Amino acid sequence: MVELDRLNQLMLDYLDPEVKLVLDVGKYTIEAGGKRIRPILMMEVCRMLSEGCERVAPLAVGIEYIHMASLLHDDVVDGALTRRGRPSANLIFGNQAVVLGGDYFYAKALWLYAVYGNLKAVELVSRAVMHMSQSQILELNSIGKILSEEEYLRIIDGKTGALFSASMGVGALMGGSPLYEEFYSIGLKVGRAFQLIDDALDYSGSEDQLGKPVGNDLKEGKCTYPLISVMSHLDIDWVMDRFGKGDTEELRRKVVSLGGVENTRERAKLEIKEVINYLKSFENSETLIEILESVVKRDR
Ligand code: IPE
Ligand code: IPE
Ligand code: MG
Ligand code: MG
Ligand code: MG
Repeated sequence: MVELDRLNQLMLDYLDPEVKLVLDVGKYTIEAGGKRIRPILMMEVCRMLSEGCERVAPLAVGIEYIHMASLLHDDVVDGALTRRGRPSANLIFGNQAVVLGGDYFYAKALWLYAVYGNLKAVELVSRAVMHMSQSQILELNSIGKILSEEEYLRIIDGKTGALFSASMGVGALMGGSPLYEEFYSIGLKVGRAFQLIDDALDYSGSEDQLGKPVGNDLKEGKCTYPLISVMSHLDIDWVMDRFGKGDTEELRRKVVSLGGVENTRERAKLEIKEVINYLKSFENSETLIEILESVVKRDR
């Protein structure tokens, strides 16, 4: 896809730190790939709402820089060893370089929003990062606990939904639409669906396809939708004897056999269906709808 090549090139072009280690962390993360779903959504929302969306390109780069920064920090927090099919940056460069490099990318993104966007764009993206970082902390505080669906949704709406909100909200804003807050709100549902699928894939995905380990959430004591959706069929003491412990394979298999993965995919589909219904009233929404359908079908 020509457009993705251009986005990747722009991501490298805007990368101009003076300190080589920051450049190395950045290049390593960019060149490892990734789906680029957030900038793709931003560009497509903008294109749907207006002709010629060249001005959104630096902001699309910025949203992916924020995502990169969040992954760099997330892998330190989660102690992850693999990301995008390669050893995680924290393993290669160390926690200190990765945390500080992540700070650089957050700031560089805000710089791009201030220079190429406008004050509202800066507000939307800062709002999303504030929401995201607080939910990452909420998640930390929930480790080892069995969560209600409501508690779980609160966490994922912030840790993942918020950045999708900003992607779609800024796409609408730069497309000149007064409906940018509505797009910010529907973006939250897209991000919720995206994280639900991430959580389903942690139970049933393939490490090769995902480029990151599977089965990790249970090992880390993270209670996600597949488990929540089958909790009523399980004995809580039996679960707690295994949850967050060394060997979670039996628990994982049990959740899968009770339909936890299908329940999660169905829940994600419901969210996306609502978004698609909203988008149907817009002209030229076919491509965006196709992208959203692929979000819930994905296996990587
Ligand atoms: C991973 O995001 C973190 C989550 C919010 C689930 P992606 O699945 O978009 O990661 P990349 O960018 O494609 O590697
Ligand atoms: C990622 O959540 C959310 C953010 C990076 C803010 P996870 O911890 O589930 O993401 P993966 O599974 O490591 O990609
Ligand atoms: Mg993680
Ligand atoms: Mg995490
Ligand atoms: Mg995950």
